Amino acid sequence: MPQKIKVAIAGVGNCASSLIQGCAYYNKTSGSDVGLLHHKFGAYEIGDIEFVAAFDVDRRKVGKDLATAIMTEPNCIKTIHKVNKMGVVVKKGPVLDGVAEHMKQTFLVDEKQVKCNVNTELRCSGADMLICYLPVGSAKAARFYAQAALNANIGFINAIPEFICSDSRWIRRFKEKRLPCAGDDIKSQIGATIIHRALSRLIEDRGQIIDSTFQLNVGGNSDFENMLDKDRLLSKRKSKTQALTSILDHKLTNVRIGPSDYISHLKDNKICYINIKGRQFGNIPFELDLKLSVEDSPNSVGIMVDVIRAMKIALDNKESGHLEEISSLMFKSPKKQLRDDVARKLVKKKYQLA
Ligand SMILES: NC(=O)c1ccc[n+]([C@@H]2O[C@H](COP(=O)([O-])OP(=O)(O)OC[C@H]3O[C@@H](n4cnc5c(N)ncnc54)[C@H](O)[C@@H]3O)[C@@H](O)[C@H]2O)c1
Repeated sequence: MPQKIKVAIAGVGNCASSLIQGCAYYNKTSGSDVGLLHHKFGAYEIGDIEFVAAFDVDRRKVGKDLATAIMTEPNCIKTIHKVNKMGVVVKKGPVLDGVAEHMKQTFLVDEKQVKCNVNTELRCSGADMLICYLPVGSAKAARFYAQAALNANIGFINAIPEFICSDSRWIRRFKEKRLPCAGDDIKSQIGATIIHRALSRLIEDRGQIIDSTFQLNVGGNSDFENMLDKDRLLSKRKSKTQALTSILDHKLTNVRIGPSDYISHLKDNKICYINIKGRQFGNIPFELDLKLSVEDSPNSVGIMVDVIRAMKIALDNKESGHLEEISSLMFKSPKKQLRDDVARKLVKKKYQLA
């Protein structure tokens, strides 16, 4: 009988909320497969995922039961499923660079709230792995949590565009401690990146040339509010741009990809516009425009539920270092960029998925 998968979370925002509500929705009794890549992944069902620790810095969330914290503003996702009291209290981690300057007034970090010892909390929680769900631009804070995972001898999943699990130095540290890590920057199920990659590959595979492309993204959740700070979003822009250019046959210089604005009333609805200009047979120009409107956070969580189970299998099998196959398929910035069809075949083979 498979064990429970014990997960700790750093950053109780919209993604954490979608993940926890989604796990409640797809528990063993719901019977629904809608929106899942795999109901069963290896020996594990989604109902085997359990949340055992959570860290945040926003005083509205710290000190609350995790089930209440995920429903607390500024979280704004559409409700997926009611979550009963979980018996896990959100603990305060170190703020470091987790909060953007322009959000400090609304963010409500309470200096009087006592910080926990993250290393101790992780050890006592019995967590198998830690997911990094911090805001974009949290370079120091993300590395702090990666180190905390190493200190606690657990796996590390990096959902954000900080280059940690794809960085040779960090991979070596995880290898030395015989621990697995997966990342970086989760690639949503049907999100801007995967669509842009698939369309661009289609164009090249059909013998046509891409001359220029851009991808504009707007949304109204705190992830987009945070990315109004242009300095914080440099890593996001780099991660999203490389995710496209790395799988093309021709070098593409006229390319601009990234978060473009924050529109508060959109809440967790993200709207993406993709434009591609190229040339077809006879050097004749063509142009393609696409609009995608999608709930942002659940879109990435459909991927995370598989990554969590792959991480647990890696722990069971004592794999260490960067989990190459799953990272290449499920993240925008893995150590090794592969075409999605190639990565999917490798993942299916490795985990013997139908
Ligand atoms: N489709 C997607 O939703 C998607 C896809 C790829 C990557 N991501 C990334 O995942 C991350 C999480 O996204 P989200 O929508 O949940 O963001 P969010 O802004 O809703 O949540 C971030 C949480 O981190 C907390 N936080 C800030 N500093 C902290 C610290 N030092 N320690 C602990 N907690 C801290 C904030 O209070 C907040 O609750 C973002 O970096 C986002 O870019 C999301």
